[in-house]
Amino acid sequence: MLTTSRVQQAEEALKHAKETMNERYRLGYHIMASANWINDPNGLVQYKGEYHVFFQHHPYDENWGPMHWGHVKSKDLVHWGHLPIALAPGDDCDKDGCFSGSAVDNNGELTLIYTGHHYTDKEKNLFTQNQNIAVSQDGITFEKIEANPVIAEPPADSSHHFRDPKVWKHNDTWYMILGNATEDEVGRVILYRSPDLRGWEYIGVLAQSEGELGFMWECPDFFELDGKYVLMFSPQGMATQGDLYKNLFQTGYLIGDYDYETNKFVHGSFTELDYGHDFYAVQTLLDDKNRRIAIGWMDMWESNMPTKIDGWCGALTLPRELTLGDHNKLLMNPVEELTLLRESEHNKCTNQSISERYLVETKDDLVEVKAVFDLTNTSAKSVGLKIRGMNQEETVLTYQIEDQKLTLDCSKSGKEKDGVRNVMLETSGILSLRVFIDRSSIEVFANDGQATITSRIYPKEARLGIELFAENGDAKINQFTYWNLKDIWK
Ligand code: FRU
Repeated sequence: MLTTSRVQQAEEALKHAKETMNERYRLGYHIMASANWINDPNGLVQYKGEYHVFFQHHPYDENWGPMHWGHVKSKDLVHWGHLPIALAPGDDCDKDGCFSGSAVDNNGELTLIYTGHHYTDKEKNLFTQNQNIAVSQDGITFEKIEANPVIAEPPADSSHHFRDPKVWKHNDTWYMILGNATEDEVGRVILYRSPDLRGWEYIGVLAQSEGELGFMWECPDFFELDGKYVLMFSPQGMATQGDLYKNLFQTGYLIGDYDYETNKFVHGSFTELDYGHDFYAVQTLLDDKNRRIAIGWMDMWESNMPTKIDGWCGALTLPRELTLGDHNKLLMNPVEELTLLRESEHNKCTNQSISERYLVETKDDLVEVKAVFDLTNTSAKSVGLKIRGMNQEETVLTYQIEDQKLTLDCSKSGKEKDGVRNVMLETSGILSLRVFIDRSSIEVFANDGQATITSRIYPKEARLGIELFAENGDAKINQFTYWNLKDIWK
């Protein structure tokens, strides 16, 4: 079947799936497919003045399957609109899937670079992977090039895991990194270069696990930020260590110095980027305001995904701006455009002390909350926020002041098993929480991006409300504001 008719067939399937979808947990201001399954964000790019985001998509089912590329775009990173499916698998170069990849604007030609997936034995999950290109003049319809694959096979010392190309330009040369593993299953990222995006020369290994960072590194990204180089990737197979690496797979980064001449990347140790349950396969783009913007998949492989029975599954995080903090730490904050979502502002208990609790009975299910605690004038042992319903059902964000630990507890909001996540957060007097709550997600940005926690939650529709609390003492509140937010899909 021709690619165009495969795209049309997938669009038809989506149209039908949409008609029977249950809306209860549909998100109000996050990127989702119009129906059925999505995972990783792909091809983040600004093209002809608009932001484009693609994503791994199975338009025929609420479960993962032969991967297509779904597509949305936006003028402002806030209001997104769906475009037709960009890539459908089934050609010689991508028989069983168009896996993750990236996008570049090549002098007006929007170019997608992606992995072709080929099963050699589907039952045993044996496969090969190659790298391909598709181009578009209008940013809507894409044509796979005749010369595909542009990289047919991995280097000789590699395992069959060979995917997720991220491409960028440096001094007139194109560079590509790929997620990869050695023959003995040690995770690593490898580097290629090209003068024209078509012919690629293998340069070597950019970074590799020394045993502790897993058996495969998925979805790498590499960029300069404030004079340092950041390698972000999603390692599979890291062991949990206390509060660290609690998810099945992680997303994090190495920071250091890089020399293009020698391909030497000298870096520090691995740090997780977000401490929630549902944050994976993150990718970034550099926009025309010189901002490094990151978006991740807001779910986790093999986790409980209760929206499957509703006919859809998967979403992307809010766009977040990355900056470099002290001690080579990456900070993540919502892009400033997200204030466009705010509809009405409610200021509560400014410069007041609370003991036990302060309840706001809002009817809104899409909310942003800003809560600033003055810890120097607080006697409580812990302070925090409860959202979406009290008692039997709630999502609780707690800061334990002495331990300097921020905890998100979703065990009463759809994550009965393994519902708690912790992150160390050093504060000197002020705890500032900025929290985005959508119908089935929570994103926490603490102290201007010093710590972030992203998780999917599945509260009942009728359970609403926000509560501030102080345990074992009083808490001084400098600011408690909430905004009800717009539903961009309605
Ligand atoms: C990461 C990932 C990628 C792969 C894609 C397949 O979540 O496993 O490595 O390209 O998903 O959908």
